[in-house]
Amino acid sequence: MNNNSSPNEQIDRFGIYIHWPFCLSKCPYCDFNSHVRKKEIDQNDYCNAIFKELDWFSENSNAKNVSSVFFGGGTPSLMSIETVDKIINKIYKTWSCNSNLEITLEANPTSVEAEKFLEYSKSGVNRVSLGIQSLIDDDLKKLGRQHTAIEALNALHIAKNNFSRVSFDLIYARPHQDCKSWERELKEAISYNNQHLSLYQLTIEPGTRYAELYKKGKLQIPKDELSSDLYNLTNEICKNNGLMRYEVSNFSSEGQESVHNLIYWQSGQWAGIGPGAHSRINDSDGYRHSIITEHNPEKWLDLVNKLDNGIIKNEILLKEEIADEYLLMSLRTRQGLNIERYKSMGRTINNKIFDTFKEDNFIKKSMDNAYLQLTEKGFLFTNKIITELSN
Ligand SMILES: C[S@@+](CC[C@H](N)C(=O)[O-])C[C@H]1O[C@@H](n2cnc3c(N)ncnc32)[C@H](O)[C@@H]1O
Ligand code: SF4
Repeated sequence: MNNNSSPNEQIDRFGIYIHWPFCLSKCPYCDFNSHVRKKEIDQNDYCNAIFKELDWFSENSNAKNVSSVFFGGGTPSLMSIETVDKIINKIYKTWSCNSNLEITLEANPTSVEAEKFLEYSKSGVNRVSLGIQSLIDDDLKKLGRQHTAIEALNALHIAKNNFSRVSFDLIYARPHQDCKSWERELKEAISYNNQHLSLYQLTIEPGTRYAELYKKGKLQIPKDELSSDLYNLTNEICKNNGLMRYEVSNFSSEGQESVHNLIYWQSGQWAGIGPGAHSRINDSDGYRHSIITEHNPEKWLDLVNKLDNGIIKNEILLKEEIADEYLLMSLRTRQGLNIERYKSMGRTINNKIFDTFKEDNFIKKSMDNAYLQLTEKGFLFTNKIITELSN
């Protein structure tokens, strides 16, 4: 990605997200649409329903060419090899696909799941994103994870032998974490020579077990000053090791950015398939739709069986809503907001607010003046800056 790349790059791209909503256990910090079920899941039923939604999106969106497929969750590495294989084949049959189609699967790094990596790769998965979260066993326990650090590193080794692109996630700003221990952990993570890392600051999400503990004063998380030190340290260590921040929480070497996530951040089109998935697609008249499906897995399945899709909301977005969303998402990326594209959506940046943020070194323009970009300091205050710019 460079500053001169065409603003149309991601606008023209279309991605398919498949949501697998099941997990072996619920992690105490997680508010994703993920569910634990005692009864075995009938994967055939879910696969048939996913096929129906794929058909619905192929009939109702004007996208012709697929750039990326992303199996997310939940825990998609609990999907059988057969299910993943059938879905990939169905996508190839339904759309024309780029020759370098990126197919990512999110995997939990337990030994059972790593055993399936070779077969997933034979089905066409070419990128894996491992939820390692921490390299310290005690912390993994506190995060409610099902794997140890050694098990995760073993899964990483197997992943590297089977996929051309491997990323992993770590959560930092964890309870009782200090800069020294995060520095050691992050440097160890980087020593595994990954070309992509997702490094998330722990957030306390309403409705989670962590939120309950936090409210009762039983969970201490880093205060603002330590949080920003950890954030700056993260950037510095990654930068010194050739990993550039290309989005608030995502770091990669040149050319290794996730095509799929860039589609979200640069307002391309994507079909979200499965329970609780969100989509943005353009119809044959060019209107942009925001679509959401039923979030409960069993209700979603019933709905798809009745209506051939599990959609509970399908709205045409207004021009200003499209512009607001573009501002919100694009400023999260290193490439930033394309000023001409924003203007074509009927909006301009408030120069007075821009100048104030520029003076404080929160924001800048790209060398060719085409993009508005947050500075490293600005990334720390992403939400505040975006709110003020959009007013
Ligand atoms: C869809 S989730 C989980 C994928 C996979 N099931 C796993 O647990 O590895 C994607 C990532 O979001 C991050 N995440 C989830 N909840 C978080 C939270 N409350 N704070 C920070 N990061 C979080 C984790 O790093 C996780 O790997
Ligand atoms: S973090 Fe991953 S494994 Fe844990 S509950 Fe959430 S989706 Fe499931």
